[in-house]
Amino acid sequence: MPKLTIDEKTVEVPVGKRLAQAIEDAGVNIGHRCGGYAKCTTCRVEFVEGEPDVMTKAEYERLTNRDLFGEVRLSCQIECDRDMSVKPLITLENEPSWQDTGPELEETVTPEAEWFPIDMLTDE
Ligand code: FES
Repeated sequence: MPKLTIDEKTVEVPVGKRLAQAIEDAGVNIGHRCGGYAKCTTCRVEFVEGEPDVMTKAEYERLTNRDLFGEVRLSCQIECDRDMSVKPLITLENEPSWQDTGPELEETVTPEAEWFPIDMLTDE
């Protein structure tokens, strides 16, 4: 099983699990305010290691639209398929106006994933 490191904590994650869900299941209250549909960007993470080399169309469109492409990744749009080390950037603890992290995530990437190799994508 792939290993997921979040700050100093490492857990094992079933292959294919959504990264946002894996982070939450590891006890980190990461945001997912749109329910995992690549709309809110509150599930954003910084990759330390193991960044996937593919991206969903929905993630690409949202990141370029918010000028975030190349800066962060949306953990709701990523499947755990390798060892990864990430830093969650928006959590319940640093968003005092939130009552919760957001609606429950569906098991698979939503909207239905259309994957592209990252090296084919640009920030334009
Ligand atoms: S963009 Fe909203 S949960 Fe990922």
